[in-house]
Amino acid sequence: MLDLQNIEFVVKNGAKRRAIIQDLSLSVKAGEFVAITGPNGSGKSSLARLIMGINRASAGKLIFNGQDITEKTITERAKLGIAYSFQQPVYFKGLSVRDLLQVAATAKETFLQDTGTDYEKLLATVGLSQDYLERQIDNSLSGGELKRVEIASVLARGAKLMVFDEPEAGIDIWSFARLTDVFRKLHKKPDCAVVVISHQKSILNIADRVVILKDGKIQAQGRPEDLKEELAL
Ligand SMILES: Nc1ncnc2c1ncn2[C@@H]1O[C@H](COP(=O)(O)OP(=O)(O)OP(=O)(O)O)[C@@H](O)[C@H]1O
Ligand SMILES: [Mg+2]
Repeated sequence: MLDLQNIEFVVKNGAKRRAIIQDLSLSVKAGEFVAITGPNGSGKSSLARLIMGINRASAGKLIFNGQDITEKTITERAKLGIAYSFQQPVYFKGLSVRDLLQVAATAKETFLQDTGTDYEKLLATVGLSQDYLERQIDNSLSGGELKRVEIASVLARGAKLMVFDEPEAGIDIWSFARLTDVFRKLHKKPDCAVVVISHQKSILNIADRVVILKDGKIQAQGRPEDLKEELAL
């Protein structure tokens, strides 16, 4: 489904150049659940932003379902079926939770239709009551609530490739167990793939494959049971 070929991401700081991602190649197959982990600053979010098109690769190619998307914009990639949930979601002044979910659910084949559900059920999936539908997406939402709304909006989009950046951030452990179930169900869909960036053992353990990033390179990858030592599982 997704094929990253020799990706480089170089940033310039004055005269200094720093390679955040270095010669990275990675494939994600349809139906696969891939977890990416690694130390702070190892390049995980940068990689997620490269996939979504928020960052542009300095070198290398990105192929999505056989199509070269290296030069495609964020919007074009979204239309092709790539969705990304930010590590730190942003506020949308003047927009209610309902508005956001409506915008997200414009795609035909959505998670909503798949489960025969509605916005209320979708919010319940991320542990929010229906009272939140009319809430504004501003700083009146708590950090964890904003994060849940963000995850719900990605689910509503029903994308083919979903990239979640640290979905656990700010979510309490009880709600997180339920969220883990959502990820488990999502990747059972044969034409979908899920990439989750996480530091949580409960997520890494249910992944088909764990990729460990270090200094912008893949240090190791494999089934979680084969990476027990590296991951201290
Ligand atoms: N546009 C940029 N300009 C300069 N430095 C950047 C830029 N984007 C990322 N970096 C740096 O690249 C490194 C990797 O950042 P990134 O956010 O990808 O890390 P991460 O693996 O997601 O870390 P964390 O676990 O803390 O979320 C960091 O040192 C960051 O400061
Ligand atoms: Mg990050």
